Amino acid sequence: MRKIRVGIAGVGFIGPAHIEALRRLPGIEVVSILHPDADEAKAKAQQLGVEKYYSDFDQQIANDQLDSIHICTPNFLHYEMTKKALDAGLHVVCEKPLATTIEEADELVALADKTGLVNAVHFNIRYYPLIRQMKAMREKGELGEVFSVMGSYLQDWLFYNTDYNWRLEPDQSGESRAIADIGSHLLDALEYITGLKVTAVMADFNTVHKTRKKPLKPIETYSGKLLKAEDYADVPINTEDYASVLLRFDNGHKGVVTVSQVSAGRKNQLKLEIAGSKQNLHWNSESPNDLWIGRRDEANRVLMRDPSLFHPEAAGLISFPGGHNEGFPDTSKQLFKEVYAAIAAGNQPDNPLYPTFRDGRRELILCERILESNRTERWVESGL
Ligand SMILES: NC(=O)c1ccc[n+]([C@@H]2O[C@H](COP(=O)([O-])OP(=O)(O)OC[C@H]3O[C@@H](n4cnc5c(N)ncnc54)[C@H](O)[C@@H]3O)[C@@H](O)[C@H]2O)c1
Repeated sequence: MRKIRVGIAGVGFIGPAHIEALRRLPGIEVVSILHPDADEAKAKAQQLGVEKYYSDFDQQIANDQLDSIHICTPNFLHYEMTKKALDAGLHVVCEKPLATTIEEADELVALADKTGLVNAVHFNIRYYPLIRQMKAMREKGELGEVFSVMGSYLQDWLFYNTDYNWRLEPDQSGESRAIADIGSHLLDALEYITGLKVTAVMADFNTVHKTRKKPLKPIETYSGKLLKAEDYADVPINTEDYASVLLRFDNGHKGVVTVSQVSAGRKNQLKLEIAGSKQNLHWNSESPNDLWIGRRDEANRVLMRDPSLFHPEAAGLISFPGGHNEGFPDTSKQLFKEVYAAIAAGNQPDNPLYPTFRDGRRELILCERILESNRTERWVESGL
């Protein structure tokens, strides 16, 4: 049987993670990669064991009879590349954020709808089995009414003023950084689990390092630790290292999220706590196989990831028995498993389980409202 043929545009940090996840699924072949530098494209292709390599996106999508493309490039390229890929008849898996403005996202949603092609955004946090277990518990009434929601997403890879990356430059990353980059995962997960919509936001940002030392040569995410002092130039920083956002939900209750990229020792920690009228759920992405369940009138519990103890909706995201831990790389595999079932069928299903361009647009709307709230120092309605 013919394999589904996939191209990967962008092979820095996350592109290779897409390749590895795709290779763990049957019936899929990663055919080509894209890197802007021709020599690097060849070297990366060899390193990743991919046959074809390109330094021009138009050529990549025009060749090799691709069925789908994964957009893993810096944010400002997502809109243009996704549009071209849909126009060329390819199914698209786009990294978050889907675009850098709501208008661009509107256009991509409309174009994807018109073509009927499969469209997905890589909100992979949803694919930790315990995230879907929490969603299933809420849907089955085990959480009760959601009283409050607290979340945080903390990292330290931009802790020093010598840490630098394209994400610090608004023309490549967009106007928001910490909220768009990691807050989007957190807000997506919170709305996904609770089924609630954020109706209004009140945000307060902080740029801890107002000036940073930019390396004089380009570097990929997480590789900045290798540079020396003479390799830098001072540049002003206009995007947030830290943000806190108060939230109002459509059930009348409230929440709060905090994100930071300058929190020493927090490598990539997303935590959330959802307090319901029946029990309380707490989960930490750095110990993703455990869910703490709090009770008022009986002992608290810890539910370990185990397909035999999960609701069927969540057990389907588990490939290994309890005690055989799964983590970050497994989330992409599980997401792609659902996306590629749709690609094998040929078009976007009506209500896919996986996150779509509409979900990508939702996060851009929330992000823009959060930016406006921080700028104007007032509550801003999100618009549902
Ligand atoms: N879902 C997740 O968990 C997750 C995690 C990390 C990154 N991301 C997203 O993935 C995207 C990439 O992030 P990253 O951390 O891999 O960044 P990165 O800097 O490590 O890699 C980006 C790659 O894109 C390449 N690139 C730049 N311009 C290009 C062009 N014109 N054509 C082709 N390639 C080009 C760079 O050379 C580099 O190899 C971002 O949008 C980011 O938000 C998502």
